[in-house]
Formats: sequence, structure tokens, C-alpha cells
Amino acid sequence: MTSPTPSDREKVVSKLPPWLRQELKIRTAQLRVDIQDAVHQGIAQWSALASAPSSVDTSGAESFSTWLPAGQWESFRADARDRGVSLIQGLAQAVSLWLEMNPAPTVQRPSVVRRIVVCNQKGGVGKTAITAGTGEALAEDPDSLHPVRVARQFAVPPAAGSGSSLDLEDLPGLGMRVLLVDFDPQGHLTKQLGQQPLPIGGDSLTCHMAGEAKGPLADLVVPIPDERFGDRLHLLPACTDAFLLDVRLSTVRAREASLERALTPLESDYDVVIIDCPPSLGLSMDAAIYYGRRRENEQPGASGALIVVQAEDSSADAYDLLTSQINDLRDDLSLDIDYLGLVVNLYDGRRGFIATSSLQAWMDIKDPRVVAVVPDLKEQREAVRVKQPLFVYAPKGDQAVAMRALAREIS
Ligand SMILES: Nc1ncnc2c1ncn2[C@@H]1O[C@H](COP(=O)(O)OP(=O)(O)OP(=O)(O)O)[C@@H](O)[C@H]1O
Ligand SMILES: [Mg+2]
Repeated sequence: MTSPTPSDREKVVSKLPPWLRQELKIRTAQLRVDIQDAVHQGIAQWSALASAPSSVDTSGAESFSTWLPAGQWESFRADARDRGVSLIQGLAQAVSLWLEMNPAPTVQRPSVVRRIVVCNQKGGVGKTAITAGTGEALAEDPDSLHPVRVARQFAVPPAAGSGSSLDLEDLPGLGMRVLLVDFDPQGHLTKQLGQQPLPIGGDSLTCHMAGEAKGPLADLVVPIPDERFGDRLHLLPACTDAFLLDVRLSTVRAREASLERALTPLESDYDVVIIDCPPSLGLSMDAAIYYGRRRENEQPGASGALIVVQAEDSSADAYDLLTSQINDLRDDLSLDIDYLGLVVNLYDGRRGFIATSSLQAWMDIKDPRVVAVVPDLKEQREAVRVKQPLFVYAPKGDQAVAMRALAREIS
């Protein structure tokens, strides 16, 4: 973190080994502390010790500068001399001491598993891309830093390729345990993540929802392997038998609860479950919306519907149909159903008035509010083409940067 330098500080230039500097950068970001304050505290703690702690490997130390309260560096220099250690060694010890005394925070996990239902019966608006991107952002490694679009996230992003820069901040990953559910028989999410759909005739989510399970649902879940996700990002793959889901559900008792019944045994292993809905408004959609309803003891806005739209007129008609289905379900079954927000995807301001006026119309809705405006970005299409998770294909790209902002906006 950086903050304006107070006038009572003086600039000091010394050296730190790169690994220690990196640890300091990550830990201060995790604790949301300024680097200069951490160094200030570390030196104060080091000077207060009865004797110098064990030495630190400072080989390869590189130039490091920071700002300290006036006079602190001078007295540190004197203490180092008295202890017979070099300034570089003393500073490395002070920083190591601060790191020891300020451990990384543990990830705050929700007490009720969060359920995010990514929906819109309009096809091709980006539901699957947003499901995958949000899940990847939520599962990212909390012990390293990743670029996030900050501050201007409500502003309309510059047109792709316009060269304008966004405000970026390096932040620790969110470290959530995430289950992505491919609830669309087309299996796009499964394929995009480089996985295979489940074979027809075997066990599947459809079988579990229809009350015809052939084994534990957990046996069907696959991890999405990558160092940045650890073992936190999992997928329940699609099976083409889901094309018949509505028919198979027609004889099931309390069928709107069928997705919840199927997924409940998995929930204790996850912090967040994200449902990638098909482009339809059938019974399966009712089951997904029911699954996202607010549970007893759950904070408003922790779970609910995340609606992906585009800045064009046909999206508005689709949106009206979707919200009326959600409202009917809410009224018929007396449910609390929250909207997590609207994602305006594939935005291209170069399309002029149609794009800008439609975007304004989405913004004017207010509830649900627009939680992200995502431009039409080539790396998203490329990641799909090469069947790699976006965050593996282009972890520093604009799309990943926007997805991290979205994940934080709805957290
Ligand atoms: N922000 C984006 N920039 C560029 N391409 C995108 C973006 N979002 C989605 N796409 C691409 O647009 C296409 C449709 O996206 P996606 O499959 O996510 O939509 P969908 O709403 O899930 O579609 P369906 O209704 O068929 O399930 C995909 O090729 C995807 O990679
Ligand atoms: Mg899709």
C-alpha cells in the first residue's frame, strides 16, 4: 500500500534481499498496512530487543527505499553499530521480526455457504464466462498478490484497445473454496475449463435431482488444477442428460428444491457454490433460483441471482421475463430472493449511442445495481478457444483484472 508521505518523515535508502522485500509487500497488502509503517515498527521492535536476533541471509540484496519518522534511521544506525551488525543485516532482521510478529491473516469464511446463481435465459451474453471468471477470482491464492481493477470499477471502462489505463492495485487472492456447477446441458463451462462432460447413462447431477442417484455426488466433482487455485477450485461437470431435466423433474416432489437437495451433501466442503445456468426459463431455472434464496441466518445479499446482460435493447426484454419469473417464485413460495447485481458484459462504447444509452438504462435500475461493466476482450475468447481457465491463460489481462473486481464487489 502507498499513502501520501507525511512531512515529518525522511527518505532512507538501503538494501533488502528480493525475497524479503516480496514477503513484506505481500504481508502489508494482506494486512492493509503501509510498507513504511511496517518498516518503522520493525525497526522499533528490533531496537527494543535485548540483543540482535539470528542473522538473515542477505545475499543478492537490492536497493530498497522507504520513509521513516525523522531521527529513527540515525538511532537505528547507532544501535546496529553497537550490536556489531551491518545496516543491511539489521534492516533484514527488523523486517523479518515484523513479519514474525504480524502473521498473515486467516481467510474469513462465510458461516453459510454462499450460492451465486448466474443467470439470464438470453443466450450468449456471457453467463459461462462470468461464472468461470468469478469462481477463479474467488479461489485465487491468498498468499500472493494479483492485479485488481479498483476505484473506477463503476466507471465505464475504456473501449478495448483504446490504450487508456485503469487504476490497478495488487491485492492478495480471496482464497475461497469454490464449487462451479455446470448446470447447462451444453456443457460450455466444463469444456472451457478443459474438462470432459460426464458420460450419458452414468451418474450425474440430473440423476441426483431426479432422486435416482447412482453414487455420492462428490465422486463426480473434479479439481481445476493450477498452483494459483491450490485445491480450492472444483467443478461439477455437465452431462447431456440435463437436456431432459425438466421432463425428469416433472414427477419429482417439491421439484424447485431438487437442486438444493442434490447439492446439500457437498456444501460443507465449500465457501461458495456458483451455478452456471442454461439459457432457459424452465423448471431447472426455478430450481436454481430456489437454491439461491436467502436462508435463515444468512445475511441479505450474500447469496442470490447475478444477472449477466448486454448493453442492447433485446437484453432488456429478456431481463423483464427473468425478473418476473424470479418475482413469481418469490411470491408463490414466500421466499427471500436477493439480487447480487447486474453484470453488463461485452460492453463496447465504440458502438455509440445504443451502447451508452443502454448502459445508462441498466445503471438507472439501481436495484439490482450494476456491479461490473466488462468490455469485449480478446483474451476471454482466446482462453475459451484454448480451453484454459482465463486466470491460467491471462492472469494479468484486463479480463482477469475485471473479474477480480467483480468478485470483490459481490463479496
Ligand atoms: N467480456 C467478454 N469479452 C469477450 N468475449 C466474451 C466476453 N464474455 C463472453 N465472451 C465470449 O462470448 C461467447 C459467449 O459467452 P458465454 O458462453 O459465456 O455466454 P453464455 O451466456 O453462457 O451463453 P449460453 O447462453 O449459450 O450459455 C463465448 O465465446 C465467450 O468466450
Ligand atoms: Mg453458458
